[in-house]
Parts: sequence; C-alpha cells; structure tokens
Amino acid sequence: MSIKFETLTDTPYDHFSNLDRSGLIKIILAQFRINQHGAHGTSHWARVRKHGMTIGRAVGADLLVVELFAFLHDSQRENEYTDRDHGLRAADYARRLNGTYFSLTQDQMEILSIAMAGHSQGQIHDDPTIQTCWDADRLDLGRVGTKPKAKYLSIEGAKHIETAYAWSVR
Ligand SMILES: [Fe+2]
Repeated sequence: MSIKFETLTDTPYDHFSNLDRSGLIKIILAQFRINQHGAHGTSHWARVRKHGMTIGRAVGADLLVVELFAFLHDSQRENEYTDRDHGLRAADYARRLNGTYFSLTQDQMEILSIAMAGHSQGQIHDDPTIQTCWDADRLDLGRVGTKPKAKYLSIEGAKHIETAYAWSVR
C-alpha cells in the first residue's frame, strides 16, 4: 500500500498539543538532501509512524517521541546507503528544533536522541520507547528487499513481521 504525503499530516492518532505536524514536516522537507520519494523518504516515515503507534500503544511507549522518531530519524541522511552518522546528526537536529514545532522535556529529548543515534546498529534496548522506534524502522525493511527478523525486534514488534513485510513490498 502506498501512502500519500497527506497521510503524514492528518491526525488519525493521538493529538499532541505540543506538536505541529504540518510545520515540522515542511521544515524537514525543506532541508532534506535525498529523494523524498526514495527508500528513506516520506512513505517510509509514514509506515514507521504507523508501526510505531501500533507497537507503542501495546507496550506503553511515549507516542510523541515515537512519532517524532518516524519523521526525524532519516532527516539528516546525505545518501541512501552507508551514511553511518545520520542518526547522530538527526539527534542533533531534533535538539535544535525542540521548542519550535514540538516541545519535549529533557528526559523525552534524551530518549529520542538515543533512539535516533542508535537506530541503524541492530541493537535491542530495554526502554520500551526506544525499542518501539527501532522495531518500527526495522519492520519496514521489506522496501529494500530484506525481510525483518524476529531477533532484531521486540516480542511485540515480531508479531507484525508478516503484515509489515507484505505492506512494505507492495
Ligand atoms: Fe528509517
């Protein structure tokens, strides 16, 4: 299923008074250096967001942090392939944006920073919000020809492998 850009800015999920989705996405896209329609573009963000909301609700994650991860985690990529430090740069970018289109507490910012800085290293984390972010991203690996593996996911995340895979390769 392909996802249109509008899907990113509607509000089918939680309402956060401290999040301006539309403004945030516009500012991210204004500085985005890779293809908006590519493997790390807006359709990917939307699927990560959807997986993150589903898993995050089940495990009690901080859904605002998870949603911000979906929009921001690949925002600082300089290429589609081996950009090792893009997560670190994304964490730095999020810190600079905090207080503009969203506002996070220091603790929330720390969780988001850890999630973004480590999201492409294949680790498992015991914090439910961080692991939800990583699950959500890994569940969308089908778009680049890789089926997600349970050993890189939480127990809750692994429940969604088949549906996520089918969705990502359509
Ligand atoms: Fe991603």
